[in-house]
Amino acid sequence: MKKIAVIGSGTMGNGIAHTFALQGFLVNLVDISETSLQKGISTITKNLDRQVAKETITEQQKLATLANITTFTSLEEGVSSVELVVEAATENLELKLAIFRDLDKYTSADTLLASNTSSISITKIASVTSRPDKVIGMHFMNPVPLMKLVEIIRGYSTSDVVTKTIIDLSIALQKAPVEVNDYPGFIANRILMPMINEAISSLYEGVAGVSEIDTVMKLGMAHPMGPLQLADFIGLDVCLSILRVLQDGFGNPKYAPCPLLVNMVTAGKLGVKSGEGFYSWTHGTKELVISDRFSK
Ligand SMILES: NC(=O)c1ccc[n+]([C@@H]2O[C@H](COP(=O)([O-])OP(=O)(O)OC[C@H]3O[C@@H](n4cnc5c(N)ncnc54)[C@H](O)[C@@H]3O)[C@@H](O)[C@H]2O)c1
Repeated sequence: MKKIAVIGSGTMGNGIAHTFALQGFLVNLVDISETSLQKGISTITKNLDRQVAKETITEQQKLATLANITTFTSLEEGVSSVELVVEAATENLELKLAIFRDLDKYTSADTLLASNTSSISITKIASVTSRPDKVIGMHFMNPVPLMKLVEIIRGYSTSDVVTKTIIDLSIALQKAPVEVNDYPGFIANRILMPMINEAISSLYEGVAGVSEIDTVMKLGMAHPMGPLQLADFIGLDVCLSILRVLQDGFGNPKYAPCPLLVNMVTAGKLGVKSGEGFYSWTHGTKELVISDRFSK
């Protein structure tokens, strides 16, 4: 496999394009927004500069990586001659179904179609194509160039040979692939989101404060950051929407989102991206300042 397309040049798409291009793949980066494509390329350039400064890659590798990426605003042109598409567009069911219907039309019948979705069923995405055996989840973690894990999600009809091809490809990208089946939240979010929800419930019930909850998990469980800080980084709206997928998918009340999380999302307190969540982020993300609402 030599030529691939990445759909969406946001947080995940530009990281995925960076990772493939650094390993010598020719990458067509596709987004509906020209501004987003420019921002994506500038983020990739900054991140490559950082790798050069740390001496993990050379200046020459940086230039070769950038030369491997071509941008497109037309999906049809961007995917016409590729062997694999990795979709990393906005997390929205209808949008993803529309993209996969188009991918099925615009790519050759043997092109593999992967989605980086955090929570949408791969089986559902595959069902709108004529090749459900060639549709698979390739769930990269943020930031993609640094994080080793790729959760490989087998839809109901994903074939053994396609799964093996994507696992081998992930290893070629110097990642650590882990194969899981397609059920709500897969593994990463099925385990992570209830932990975050439980941390929010502990705060809501007054068991402990923001700093205490995060400190217990950092120092006691060796987590690199506490669950409330992590929730702010992921985005509280994203956490809420994944919990709803778990709740609806399993029909089990244990996944019901904490009312505090629901209230914060309704109030527009989404974490880092809105400047406030459990912490205040108006001064940047280096220093931890508990938001006024939760400071004693
Ligand atoms: N952010 C994370 O930490 C994270 C981690 C793992 C997986 N994901 C998943 O990755 C995907 C992308 O998330 P993100 O955080 O990069 O989102 P983002 O909002 O940063 O970027 C989404 C990009 O998709 C583009 N887009 C929207 N509609 C499009 C279309 N029809 N065709 C082409 N491009 C289109 C947007 O212009 C935007 O640039 C989602 O499915 C999300 O669930 C996100």
